Amino acid sequence: MRSLVDRLVPAIPLRHSTRNFSGRAPEEESLRELLRLEPLKTLGLAECRTVLLQDPAGFSAVFTGIVGSYGKIRGSTAILVLLVSSSGGDDSKLAAGFIGEQYVLLATHLGVASCWVAGTYRHKALVTRLSVAPDEEIAAIIALGCAKTEKDSLASLLHTFVPRKKLSEIATPPLLNGPPWLHTALEAVRLAPSAINLQPWRFSGTPERITLRATRRTAFTAIDLGIAMVHFSLAAEHAGAIGVWVRENDGFVFQIAAKSPL
Ligand SMILES: Cc1cc2nc3c(=O)[nH]c(=O)nc-3n(C[C@H](O)[C@H](O)[C@H](O)COP(=O)(O)O)c2cc1C
Repeated sequence: MRSLVDRLVPAIPLRHSTRNFSGRAPEEESLRELLRLEPLKTLGLAECRTVLLQDPAGFSAVFTGIVGSYGKIRGSTAILVLLVSSSGGDDSKLAAGFIGEQYVLLATHLGVASCWVAGTYRHKALVTRLSVAPDEEIAAIIALGCAKTEKDSLASLLHTFVPRKKLSEIATPPLLNGPPWLHTALEAVRLAPSAINLQPWRFSGTPERITLRATRRTAFTAIDLGIAMVHFSLAAEHAGAIGVWVRENDGFVFQIAAKSPL
């Protein structure tokens, strides 16, 4: 069996958000394998519990559109719910992003399409389908299923108005001129999903001491940062630099623990 990093990193350039699912359920074995995700990497800040809901009839009452039915997720037959402590603040949201994105990448690897959803769902309709503890809240959900090959007009619109940033917009020159592993890790962040495609992340410092800070603050920024951090860690490790994110002031520093001679 290939290592988790070897399975997740090649999925990074293949992943994109799917909103038009076919209505066909993914193979049972793929979903079983998805739930066997291990050893799951964590930030060590907070817990995130996952619950997989499946419904062959779909979740049409759960999903909403951006405007009317526009942008609504259709035909998804499974939802991964990310539950965190309701008093956990940003740490819980960071954990949800860091952990949830590993499921998204493993799903991609297994041929299961996905979409992070933190806004366009009905909370009331969802909570009737699972048990949420009094001290828990839903950080976000991930719609899963088989993709339809139809064009996603919401994605086209988002990518027109909020295009994917260039590397020079997410990292400072000393990092852009850094070693190959760092370039690979930054490129992996560039391809990461984020709420409304805002990509609210900025890397600075030196290749020996990389700092990550948010460039804006929305309700979903901490989840987006967690996603960026896991893309960075996984790709760095795959390219030979194993490290951990350590909190510092208003951001995080990537502390390199080991480097293989690449
Ligand atoms: C935390 C988070 C929340 C999101 N919430 C929604 C949502 O409520 N509805 C939706 O259609 N897409 C949602 N998305 C998907 C983003 O719109 C998408 O990731 C972004 O536009 C980039 O496109 P890509 O994932 O295809 O690269 C969310 C993504 C993230 C990371």
